[in-house]
Amino acid sequence: MRNAQARRVLGGEFETSGPLCLGASSGRLGLERGLGGTWVASGRAGLFLILRKLRRSGVRQVHLPAYLCESVLLPIKALGLDFSFYPVEASLTARPDPPRDSAVVLLHYFGWLNPASAVLRSQGAASFHLVEDFSHALLSEWGNVEERREGLHLFFSARKLGPAPLGGWCTAEAEPGKPSTEMELAAWRSLAARLLKRDYLASPDAAVDPKVEDLYLSAFEAVESFLNARPDEAALPAFVLDLVAGLDWQDIAERRRSNWMTVHDLLAGTVEPLAPDLPSDTVPLGYVVRLDEEKRDNVRRALADRRIFCPVHWPLPKEVDRRRFPEARRLSRTLLTLPIDQRYGEAEMEIVANELRRALG
Ligand SMILES: Cc1ncc(COP(=O)(O)O)c(C=O)c1O
Repeated sequence: MRNAQARRVLGGEFETSGPLCLGASSGRLGLERGLGGTWVASGRAGLFLILRKLRRSGVRQVHLPAYLCESVLLPIKALGLDFSFYPVEASLTARPDPPRDSAVVLLHYFGWLNPASAVLRSQGAASFHLVEDFSHALLSEWGNVEERREGLHLFFSARKLGPAPLGGWCTAEAEPGKPSTEMELAAWRSLAARLLKRDYLASPDAAVDPKVEDLYLSAFEAVESFLNARPDEAALPAFVLDLVAGLDWQDIAERRRSNWMTVHDLLAGTVEPLAPDLPSDTVPLGYVVRLDEEKRDNVRRALADRRIFCPVHWPLPKEVDRRRFPEARRLSRTLLTLPIDQRYGEAEMEIVANELRRALG
């Protein structure tokens, strides 16, 4: 008989870590870098508020990178705005050709400031409105945002880099009001799933219990489905802000950087990393590697069989024309994001590197 598999996992949604902080937040967390704006339910709700404000000033079109996460499209559709796509290079440099008076969304992929930022920041305002998505780069340096307060539009999501149940922030000033009962439920459900996962993983050598795994995975899914259905719902339950404020973001940043460098050394010469090095002002989302198109999904499956879960950034939304944007298609089919987050240290990074080598054959 096959031995029961142990439940320890690497990757996947964040389980809760450390003590839960409630009632501690003053409403400003420091993640906003002293800028004025609004805490909201999600990154997409942040984009919704920014675009709603721009629509009031006459913006009708949003220009987006062809390589993007489907959730970024949702607030645009909810607002009934037109949208178009622009190419992104293999290096992830954005190459927009901004239609006049449009809103141009710029993604800072995987924690790195987009190499096109400086040029776009200097061109913006006069003929288009630059909207920067820092969801992956929440903890990295943002560049000269302080100097650009006027006409600055940026947003982030809080739960890509840490165990926040929900949450996002944007530079649009708004009064989101009271959260709906459904949003309160989504927040509690997200927290419950994280607590359940934490308790389950507290016995890493015990056997896998599919029922418990289904329970927290389906709770995470239900929260994402709710957010997909309500990209326009901005009000964030207050306790979530406390939880986000209670996370040690400095420690998160340091551990991520240290793990990235460990894996980078361990995998040197084995695989092509998306980024050749880690600048001192960058906090990575993951360790992203480029694999052959024929291999990527097999490698991902082989790692999942060993309980190492790697997200795909991203399955392209159906609206992106693959023939017009072959590089976006290639990125979507060749990149694999290895987990290097704060939950792990050197021992886990060795497992990730060894299992990747093994999966590559
Ligand atoms: C780059 C990027 N921006 C924005 C979002 C939307 O954030 P949220 O899920 O909080 O709405 C996502 C979601 O995965 C994302 O990957």
